[in-house]
Amino acid sequence: MISLKKKILNKKVDIAIIGLGYVGLELALNIAKKKYNVIGFDKNKKKIELIKKNQSPINTIKNERIRLLNKRNLHSLRNINLLTKCDVIIICLPTPLKKNLKPDNKYLIECFKTIFPYLRKNQILILESTVHPLATQKIFGNKISKKFDIGKNFFLCFSPERISPGQHEGRHAYLNITKLISGRTKNCVKLINYLYGKIFKKLHKCASIEIAEFSKLYENSYRSINIGFANQMKIIADKLNMNIFDIIKASSTKPFGFTKFNPGPGVGGHCIPLDPMFISYAAKKLRINSDFIHLARRVNFEVTNWIIDKIKKDTKKKEKILLLGVAYKKNIDDDRESPARIIYKELRKTHIVKFYDPYIKKLKIRKKTYKSLETLNYQKLKNFNSVIITTDHDFFNYKKIFKFSKKIFDTRGVFREKKDLKIISC
Ligand SMILES: NC(=O)c1ccc[n+]([C@@H]2O[C@H](COP(=O)([O-])OP(=O)(O)OC[C@H]3O[C@@H](n4cnc5c(N)ncnc54)[C@H](O)[C@@H]3O)[C@@H](O)[C@H]2O)c1
Repeated sequence: MISLKKKILNKKVDIAIIGLGYVGLELALNIAKKKYNVIGFDKNKKKIELIKKNQSPINTIKNERIRLLNKRNLHSLRNINLLTKCDVIIICLPTPLKKNLKPDNKYLIECFKTIFPYLRKNQILILESTVHPLATQKIFGNKISKKFDIGKNFFLCFSPERISPGQHEGRHAYLNITKLISGRTKNCVKLINYLYGKIFKKLHKCASIEIAEFSKLYENSYRSINIGFANQMKIIADKLNMNIFDIIKASSTKPFGFTKFNPGPGVGGHCIPLDPMFISYAAKKLRINSDFIHLARRVNFEVTNWIIDKIKKDTKKKEKILLLGVAYKKNIDDDRESPARIIYKELRKTHIVKFYDPYIKKLKIRKKTYKSLETLNYQKLKNFNSVIITTDHDFFNYKKIFKFSKKIFDTRGVFREKKDLKIISC
């Protein structure tokens, strides 16, 4: 423990990061920037080769930042035996939902099975993936305890990632977000505190791993529920011929008891639509209701259908429609669970639909692949009967969109201040 502490503080520890996706790659780059030796593993060989060529697989991570990583330290799973030389192992793997809405921990379980033989005494294992309450102990802790004495000769920690991809400045920039840390024992907490204290600006020690697990899910559920509320209010306001953004603007002037959440076309990514179901899963096992979570989920789906219906009512069959943006939020290249996917798929049944996203060139829906327009020629927007703002990327020139489009369905409130008949707020 004392020698590990010294090694951490002197930056002599080797740190393995397993899973170089949105979370793992950003973390790897930030740790490498602090002059720690980072060893990256990903099962996707193409991704490893790309990173080795200094090319970022993610649009929000610039190529020049990739240079921080030592190319010889990037590996596919073939070289997983190198883990034995590492002092810290950080796991950043996907944790999706199964079709039956239960947590799908197969990535964590399979990875742990692979790495378990290479674990040795005096290593720190940190889980960064979002998991359901009690999962860290169940998946990792129980098995590790059979081989090691946790807190004495092996250290188990959990630190949920709270990144907001695409946001590089201000309070929401990666390093400005307080990092939650937790550990199985006091010694585990001390060690992650030494390490993450060198990387992040502000840490918050959670009372236990389970508190940290739940807290991450609480945050995501809080967002889902409040966005769901805003979406439902939008539908009511619309029926009353009012614009929800005018209402929210007025309510936002209250200096206490009100936090603004914007409505939209639905919710996407993993954190908001999927993660709350991890609480629901835990609650169900205890035979407790988690109605808020289910209601928000339902409303956040319903609003997408409400938008589709509104577009269908306001357009004729076979009309030409262009979707601007298919990412689930602005300035990123991620279309996982994006409501634009549903809007695109549904409208294609009745209309001639194209899409353009500067960051997403292909949309895979079921087994089919659809291509984005190669470029966005603003003047040609008039060739479409309607344009739908499905993602409010900063890339778009909204003045030109307004100028050249015949009709605009605005699902993001980008034209919230513009009162014009060709804009349909939805
Ligand atoms: N993306 C976000 O904005 C975000 C934010 C907060 C938390 N999270 C959570 O962080 C975790 C990771 O999410 P992500 O968005 O980075 O996922 P991702 O899909 O972008 O990245 C996961 C990476 O792991 C790799 N991988 C899969 N199985 C592997 C294995 N056995 N060994 C090595 N590599 C393997 C994949 O090839 C991929 O590169 C999830 O639990 C997610 O819910 C994500």
